[in-house]
Amino acid sequence: MRVLSPAKINLHLRVGPKQLDGFHPLVTWMVTVGLFDTLDFSLDTAGRVGLSCSDPSLPVDDRNLVVRAARLLQAEAARTSGGESSISGPVAGEPGVRIELLKVIPTGGGLGGGSSNAAVTLIALNELWGLNLPRQRLSELAAGIGSDVPFFLGGPSGICPSTICSSAICTGRGEVVSRVDSPSATWVVLMLPDMSMPTPAVYRQFDQMPFSPGWNEAIGWSQQCPPAEELLRLLRNDLEPPAFAISPELGRLRKTAETLVSRPVRMSGSGSSLFTLFSDHEVAEKAAFLIHSQLALRTMTVPIAVISNLQK
Ligand code: C5P
Repeated sequence: MRVLSPAKINLHLRVGPKQLDGFHPLVTWMVTVGLFDTLDFSLDTAGRVGLSCSDPSLPVDDRNLVVRAARLLQAEAARTSGGESSISGPVAGEPGVRIELLKVIPTGGGLGGGSSNAAVTLIALNELWGLNLPRQRLSELAAGIGSDVPFFLGGPSGICPSTICSSAICTGRGEVVSRVDSPSATWVVLMLPDMSMPTPAVYRQFDQMPFSPGWNEAIGWSQQCPPAEELLRLLRNDLEPPAFAISPELGRLRKTAETLVSRPVRMSGSGSSLFTLFSDHEVAEKAAFLIHSQLALRTMTVPIAVISNLQK
């Protein structure tokens, strides 16, 4: 079974003050974008969970969210069939899997690649192992893996079981997912600086900086389908000031890119990826070329709010 695992961007990200659990409440509008990792799943009848990855710098043990997702689901399968939890290793008779991960989405870029891979693993193994767990349960398991994972599952109900979510407003830590229509802008120019931003450090820096009220305002305007340039002016990311305090170079890149393309440029998640939006593919490609040639930044023009399904 093969599944394309899309990247996401946070079109809009507002962050509230740190809670007692150490996490920050969020209001974020996330959409998938047409940049994909590929995961191939095949059954392992000996109950093992094995991962191989095209990127040798990534761990293939329990530190990888794909392995964590597979083990969680294996333990869930054992629990629901009345067996023992297998979180620590293979158990004969339990479902196992061999997973090959072809990595394309940059890591540490705020594009949710690891989270997407974990969500895809939950969906694929639920099917491959014939577990028939409801989305509600998969979403609960997803929230235990990482704050961005539930987005890709699209919330507890109402989505075809084999489909990845493409556009949602997420609250709580990010795990409360309400699917919404995609924006009317259809193209995103991604700018991928060659730097990795550590999410916990960006949140720690956020805690040191003056807090901006209004973070929890509803974003009803998201559904009024404003054209790309109008929408861009409404978007905001509260993690930009702390990320640019950690990396002033990233802040300078954003500003220069904005001047070059004469439209707002935003950061996704905790960075380092930057993006801007277009309704017209040709105009988007020209802007991407300009940024690439002037700033020596890796850029790509990809569609927004892509749909991904299991392929058997
Ligand atoms: O949930 P995830 O593993 O993606 O979070 C990584 C880190 O980002 C957390 O350990 C926490 O420091 C920070 N975080 C946060 N508030 C959130 C999401 C993440 O403080 N809502």
